[in-house]
Amino acid sequence: MTENRTENRDTKFEYSNGQNGTGANGYSANGHGQNGHSRLLMEAAPGVDPVAEPGDDGKRYAQIIGWGYHVPAKVITNKDLEQIVDTTDEWIRSRTGIEERHVAADPKETTATLGIAAARKALEVADVHPSKIDLIICSTSSPEHIFPATASLVQDAIGAVNAGAFDLSAACSGFVYALSMARGHILAGDAEYVLVLGAETLSRIVDWTDRNTCVLFGDGAGAVLVAASNVPGGIMAVELGSDGSGANSLTVPAGGSAQPASLETVSSGSHYIKMDGKAVFRFATRVMAQATTRVLQRSGLTTNDVDLIVPHQANIRIIQNSVLTQLKIPPEKVWINLQRYGNTSTASIPIALCEAIEAGKVKPGNNLVFVGFGGGLTWAACTVKWSVPVGGKETASWWKNYRRQATYQAAAARSMWRRAVRWVYEVWPTDPHEGGVRQPEPATPSQESSQQN
Ligand code: ACO
Repeated sequence: MTENRTENRDTKFEYSNGQNGTGANGYSANGHGQNGHSRLLMEAAPGVDPVAEPGDDGKRYAQIIGWGYHVPAKVITNKDLEQIVDTTDEWIRSRTGIEERHVAADPKETTATLGIAAARKALEVADVHPSKIDLIICSTSSPEHIFPATASLVQDAIGAVNAGAFDLSAACSGFVYALSMARGHILAGDAEYVLVLGAETLSRIVDWTDRNTCVLFGDGAGAVLVAASNVPGGIMAVELGSDGSGANSLTVPAGGSAQPASLETVSSGSHYIKMDGKAVFRFATRVMAQATTRVLQRSGLTTNDVDLIVPHQANIRIIQNSVLTQLKIPPEKVWINLQRYGNTSTASIPIALCEAIEAGKVKPGNNLVFVGFGGGLTWAACTVKWSVPVGGKETASWWKNYRRQATYQAAAARSMWRRAVRWVYEVWPTDPHEGGVRQPEPATPSQESSQQN
């Protein structure tokens, strides 16, 4: 994925240790002032492959350098749900903690469009051009299609012309699984920048007549950009698990190879989420605590070293039972926002992370834990030594905004151009039996120009 792009890399992520006229916090951020908000030092280093250049300890690290989220505008409150199914605001609040959720009410809002919006925000925070991305991993259980991958649609829309792209299916644990994949690619030297998304429109596969499930879920997307760095820290350790014997506890039975879509599957509602809530609850409270304990051990940390836990936002009682009661982590160190979003599945951890950052709960040097569980059954946890300044957001210059918009317009033009070329190839009267050989598709102007960036 990286071999033909090394000459384009001109950025470097490193601490400045307070030298070279940097701010008091020891970071410089590409000339963005004393506080060095939002990004690590990016220095021109022509002639070298600087991102891969080893630091003092000679190791590579996988740092989260950009983040963003996007949710649909439409909000459905518990009171609204009282009009749809036999439930009450009081029941939903007391049994789950959820008060409202965002839902993709506009048919044009899809998993890909939510993901694209989140991805653009993450790239803006990181100030990285899309052409530098090596790999896009989109974790989702409500993909745009069975195939193509939603990640490929994101790749096309943001103009990530040098990126590979695939979807990852591990239900609500998926975002942490995807972070683990990103870390692996970076530490192996296969990628310098990996865009990781968690994106869902579960409202499209929820049975809105089933009160057991429809009150729980919401739609949204979160994204982070993970970069190779010589700065110690970043994604430190991961713990992934699966217990397929519990597969039936949380499933969308139809629409796959076991039960292909048919009139029967649709009329019986088998293409909707089916859940044994009690079984999932028992499983979740056990694995959330276990996975956190194991990943902390693997990182050489204890619960006392944790500055913030960002758990999967499914049910306030699961978080209370596992993180607060079993692990004895105080509430001020646990980020909870499920009351406003419901369970957005794999998007819940990145959305919660972004909100925690906005609220000033994440600072350089902090030890974070992301922990999730979900269908599969699966679970996943990772520790992150946060290394990026996150202070107040600066207003980007008009030039940067203009360039960013131009990049996305060029991506749209490039996509249309390539579709048009494909169409011409389809209709061109060439008979393969007569030895007609078509030339390879030409590179687009935007593709060529992105190579210059
Ligand atoms: N409104 C009112 N009453 C309800 C509702 C509702 N929305 N839903 C269920 N009830 C009723 C039940 O019918 C039951 O009534 P009964 O006693 O007359 O039979 C009663 O409330 C209690 O039901 P329980 O299932 O025992 O309720 P519980 O306290 O277990 O809460 C819940 C249910 C919220 C689903 C809980 O079990 C839970 O959160 N489980 C985990 C679910 C989860 O996290 N899933 C997502 C996994 S992530 C992923 O991969 C997508």
